[in-house]
Amino acid sequence: MIEIKKNVFEVGSKHFDRRLFDELIPLPDGTTYNAYIIKGFDKTALIDTVDPVKTDVLLEHLKELKISKIDYVIAHHGEQDHSGSIPAVLAKFPAAKVVTNEKCKVELMDHLLVAEDRFIVVADGEKLPLGGKTLEFIFTPWVHWPETFCTYLAEDKILFTCDFFGSHLASSEAYVVDECKVYESAKRYFAEIMMPFRSLIVKNIEKISKYDFTLIAPSHGPIYDKPKFIIDAYKDWTSDRVKNEVVFPYVSMHGSTKAMADHFVEALAKKGITVKPFNLTETDIGELAISLVDAATIVIGSPTVLAGPHPAAVYAAYLANALRPKLRYASIMGSFGWGGKTVETIKGMLTNLKVELLEPVLVKGHPKEADLKALDSLAQTVYNKHQADSLVMKGEN
Ligand code: FEO
Repeated sequence: MIEIKKNVFEVGSKHFDRRLFDELIPLPDGTTYNAYIIKGFDKTALIDTVDPVKTDVLLEHLKELKISKIDYVIAHHGEQDHSGSIPAVLAKFPAAKVVTNEKCKVELMDHLLVAEDRFIVVADGEKLPLGGKTLEFIFTPWVHWPETFCTYLAEDKILFTCDFFGSHLASSEAYVVDECKVYESAKRYFAEIMMPFRSLIVKNIEKISKYDFTLIAPSHGPIYDKPKFIIDAYKDWTSDRVKNEVVFPYVSMHGSTKAMADHFVEALAKKGITVKPFNLTETDIGELAISLVDAATIVIGSPTVLAGPHPAAVYAAYLANALRPKLRYASIMGSFGWGGKTVETIKGMLTNLKVELLEPVLVKGHPKEADLKALDSLAQTVYNKHQADSLVMKGEN
């Protein structure tokens, strides 16, 4: 718990040893659930709460601060890692009202069974005076649910953004200290949570940029005392720019697809193309998601099993499709024994991606000389496409 400005306190909880989020997303560095107390002359507001497993930490912090009344609980987002302790807070502070928008109100009633008479519903741009401190609500839908919004505290120039600009990074440091580390964590977070809503995020960045803030206080990860750092990163990640990179998730059962993968990686590297191979039996899907933020091309490698792609390759294809990265090209490669619908099945799973499909390379059994040449040819095609898009640096071939 720290005081970040006079009478503005961070009162949430770190979760250093959490290793999975939504039973899906790996958390190599844990996470935090930041919550903030703002004490005005007349009213006290709590900005977001914490995951239910850390309710006791939040309540202990409120006790340490000698908070005897909370007038408003600002609920930016219905997901339980921020809203899950609202029932406990309402029970502890019976006069408190949940201040949120109509969409979030419905979610909190549905998911947490909060009674309707506990809500105050606010509109986009509405202000809430606390006495010497004024909250302004800025609706920022789809970062990353439909109801999400931010709160601006004008007197202290703080923008509270909940998930927006957050990072899954538990650290004893309240503010960003190691920018490289935070950049990676925030990029991982963006890739896994925000990337599907890229175009809406661009609009929301424009919207919040009209406000004069010196701190971005998210509800995950460290506070940004140099907001430009994370805003510039978001502008880059949400832009249409792609890099001379190939993301290459693959799986191999008996070594044939692996032999193809090894050859293909070499062939791309020789042409100066950055290739990021992910052996799907070992990979951290967060790393795969991060690599999709900037890459121009994805190639999925799979053997044929049970007449179709290996389930691990299906998982990677499903994930890439759901995350909607700004890829421009896709292809498929792998080995088969006697036939199947590997190409058709994977192709049919990439319908969200606005990609040109490059000629797949499917090989019967272990790759022979002609098969390796076909992989060279695929690498050349990737190179030609990247060159035509001006992604290849001068002097590479
Ligand atoms: Fe951090 Fe969407 O919850």
